[in-house]
Amino acid sequence: MCGIVGYVGTEAPQGIILEGLKKLEYRGYDSAGIAVVDNGELKVRKHVGAIVNLERMIGDEKLGGHVGIGHTRWATHGAPSDINSHPHLSADGKVALVHNGLVENYTEIKQRLLEEGFSFRSETDSEVAAVLVGKYYAEGLELVEALGRAVSEMEGTFALAAVAYDRPDEFVAFRRNAPLIVGKGRGCNFVASDFSALLKYTKDVHLLENDDLVLLRPDSVTIWDKDRKKVTRETLHISWDVNAAEKGDYEHFMLKEIYEQPQGIMETLRRNLTDDGRVDIYDMKLTPEHFAQFNKVCIVACGTAYHAGLVGRYILEKIVKLPVEVDIASEFRYRDPFVDEKTLFIAISQSGETADTLEALREAKKKGAYVLSIVNVVGSTVARESDDVFYTWAGPEIAVASTKAYTTQLLCLYLLALYFADLRGTIDADHYREMVDALVAVPKQMEEVLEMRPAIEKLAKKLYDRDQVFFIGRGIDSSVAYEGSLKLKEISYINSFAIAAGELKHGTIALMEPKTIVIALATQDRLFDKMVSNIQEVKARNAQIISIAKEGNTKIEEHSDVTFYIPQCIDEVTPLLSVIPLQLYAYYVAKEKHCEIDRPRNLAKSVTVE
Ligand code: G6P
Repeated sequence: MCGIVGYVGTEAPQGIILEGLKKLEYRGYDSAGIAVVDNGELKVRKHVGAIVNLERMIGDEKLGGHVGIGHTRWATHGAPSDINSHPHLSADGKVALVHNGLVENYTEIKQRLLEEGFSFRSETDSEVAAVLVGKYYAEGLELVEALGRAVSEMEGTFALAAVAYDRPDEFVAFRRNAPLIVGKGRGCNFVASDFSALLKYTKDVHLLENDDLVLLRPDSVTIWDKDRKKVTRETLHISWDVNAAEKGDYEHFMLKEIYEQPQGIMETLRRNLTDDGRVDIYDMKLTPEHFAQFNKVCIVACGTAYHAGLVGRYILEKIVKLPVEVDIASEFRYRDPFVDEKTLFIAISQSGETADTLEALREAKKKGAYVLSIVNVVGSTVARESDDVFYTWAGPEIAVASTKAYTTQLLCLYLLALYFADLRGTIDADHYREMVDALVAVPKQMEEVLEMRPAIEKLAKKLYDRDQVFFIGRGIDSSVAYEGSLKLKEISYINSFAIAAGELKHGTIALMEPKTIVIALATQDRLFDKMVSNIQEVKARNAQIISIAKEGNTKIEEHSDVTFYIPQCIDEVTPLLSVIPLQLYAYYVAKEKHCEIDRPRNLAKSVTVE
């Protein structure tokens, strides 16, 4: 949700900032802008649309200077337009500011500033912040003091960075419940909304705490905490490879990330499985004694991560034998959930910055729950606010539609389930061994499933223009159906819908027409015959059936128009394989429809507003 980059050093900031913004474009792409300080002049260039539009506008112009800030926007207040784009200028044009998040009391501040005679050009809350900082700067405060004073009057969650026309060697930044990290270079320093923008320049970052105020100069980073005491913050060395955030030979990040799934699974296994096949979760602080006190598990997440949680519920209930609730984070807080110190609260988030998930986590902590998070981004806010973190080792996920993060989240849930079941003595040695063997076999089996790509592409070419697609399944398959449906609607804008197959006849079957596509997951041996009956019900209404089954279950072909087979495996682990044809189907349908696959309309990868 909006991306920020700031640079100060010996080089001209223009290239570094634009390059960094491109890496953050997944956070928002309604408009982009840059401000640099060049020879006593603030040069601000901004343009609606993707960063290429801004680049086109700048053309061959060399903006010069040694300090600059940039922004890529996902509109909240005010439509995407040149005027609403960042950076915003103070009323006197001497300070430029970029902002990510929401200033909740901006209308009151704006009213006050209007009464004082200030005027505004845009509809944004961000401009209010720029005018406020500019006002204090004009009154004679240092730039960092002006920012500190302004944020002390602002409510909400936000990250900010600002430059002033007469400060050629410094910029300032602030974070409150919105992501912002400091990158430490040699003779240069940076801020960014996440690591991927900085990987090319530095892998050493400071993680900021809430309400940290930062002054960055080429050779120094000074941080003040919420009480405005000078502090030093932990430095983290990022192990992600620069190329991991590049598209390489793939046409889209999404396709690359689909193909990176075997690798993500292998990496997460490698870090959490001993040579003799025991689950040993790296750095887990939760002790067996503490674990023994839990009487329920509560999983909370949004979007794809929530769908991973749905699978997690099946597995945890089945083998850990504890009641498990799964909730959408934005709902969790407002239903006064029953959570206490006997609850193990699991937050799942790729980015670790999703506002709804964070707020749910805080609510659970307040009620005394133990918070364990499953997160992809090291050092993210969810990770830092949790009692325990289980990292997914998917590497940077850039495409808005999540793929490899989902499968590594699933793997973490399987590993957790095994670990807990072992602690509780609810799994016997044979079943434990069988599950571990099945998980270890997954990367190779995923490679086999990926070989379906040409067949799925061919099918997508034939069916891409259908405007209604249903995903059905029973048991654990129904959770995968939700994820398949989300993938399709996110990137191809097709009206897709997922439902537990047994529930179809209670209403949704009324929507079946000839040409309706039904993607039926039938991978569960235990439920196979029941699923075949559900498929027959929709087939009888002339829907077209694409089914996904395990190799050998050829009976399904009689009732399906097309069948894709995943390799034989135990029922519990099928989601790791059956989701891949659904991801590929969504990808190729979207491609056929010429959609912006990596950056679908209206969406952002990291949603840092509630
Ligand atoms: C957004 C993205 C989804 C993602 C969800 C949760 O809505 O568009 O793809 O699944 O946020 O994100 P998280 O980073 O918390 O997993």
